[in-house]
Amino acid sequence: MEDMIGKAAREFVDIFGENATHYGDAPGRVEVIGNHTDYNDGFILAAAIDRRIAVVGRRVEGALARVYSRTFNSGASFPVAEPLKTKDNPWLNYVMGVVWQLRNKGIGVDAFEAMVLGDVPLGAGLSSSAALEVATASFLRALNGFEMDPIDVALNSQAAENDFVGMNCGILDQFTSAMGRSERLVFLDCRFLDRYSYYPLGNGVKLVIANTKAPHALVDGAYNRLRASCFRAAAICAEKFPDKKISHLRDVNPEELDQCRTAMGDEDYRRARHIVTENARVLASAEALQRGDYRAMGGLMADSHASSRDWLGNSSPELDVMVDLALEIPGCFGARLSGGGFGGATINLVGADRAEAFAEKLGERYREKTRIDPEIHLFTAGPGAEGGKL
Ligand code: GLA
Repeated sequence: MEDMIGKAAREFVDIFGENATHYGDAPGRVEVIGNHTDYNDGFILAAAIDRRIAVVGRRVEGALARVYSRTFNSGASFPVAEPLKTKDNPWLNYVMGVVWQLRNKGIGVDAFEAMVLGDVPLGAGLSSSAALEVATASFLRALNGFEMDPIDVALNSQAAENDFVGMNCGILDQFTSAMGRSERLVFLDCRFLDRYSYYPLGNGVKLVIANTKAPHALVDGAYNRLRASCFRAAAICAEKFPDKKISHLRDVNPEELDQCRTAMGDEDYRRARHIVTENARVLASAEALQRGDYRAMGGLMADSHASSRDWLGNSSPELDVMVDLALEIPGCFGARLSGGGFGGATINLVGADRAEAFAEKLGERYREKTRIDPEIHLFTAGPGAEGGKL
């Protein structure tokens, strides 16, 4: 961690010719269980991973922010008072979105220069975008000296993603990046962001992320369609049970949902059914973790995948292959698709002593079966975001 900030500071001198004075850095994240539950006001279990993005820099005179990404070897500048979305440097939108959102809240941001450097694998379902947003917010907080607790850093970053970048994500990614802890999974009740807790993820297990690398398109549109289905289903349940004050699927149990089945389209019903059962699986997973029962936790992860596949409908043939293969390999407690879906990556909970061999086998078998080269990473749970003076 120190290293990434130190490296970024050296790169800063290289590009800007001066020393950086402040830093922010934040980890990528992995959704362990709780698929599409976050924007339904439900529950999630996730981990910050031990890969991070650092943003280091200093205040300058004038009206412009100049930002350089060592990862993309490209730099750009923008007026801090008026950031505008760009197509030329998509990564810059995450930085600009955070500045834009801070200013919307009336928080002054001075002109600055910054270097971005990280080792969160890109496009691997590890939310490098949330890591960049949260790192940027942590850096700007340190540089400009305003108070903002980590939950507000997460909310600010989510708002940047929703309203500036234009991706309607829930709070899972940014919250986990801001609030993660070493050797812990973060449990969050997404309705009450102050209801979070930590569950031990000891040395006995590793998180293995397997990126299917299968090409997928229209992911944002598909994500929004799932969201819309969930909100429509919740509205129908609210009408049927006015006394229950239902605002989200979080407030609905499977029996109530079934009573509304004919009032909603089949597709909305199926998607909603995934959400209401998934919430129960997250709660059961937290209990299993508390007991150190990885077998039970793994079983719930496998059920979660089946539910995403059969009810929510956001799996893909490659994700299914990756999960099925994983479950046959010794040492694997559980496997499921993770994140938005429709392609992307799976998360596997694997006994630590078997994790390397597992990753190798999984890669081999997936390659054989699909002729696609996957990308497989081993992670442990790492700490959340930080920021401060260099
Ligand atoms: C994406 C979003 C998250 C969450 C997951 C699905 O990763 O960014 O907010 O909705 O999908 O659980």
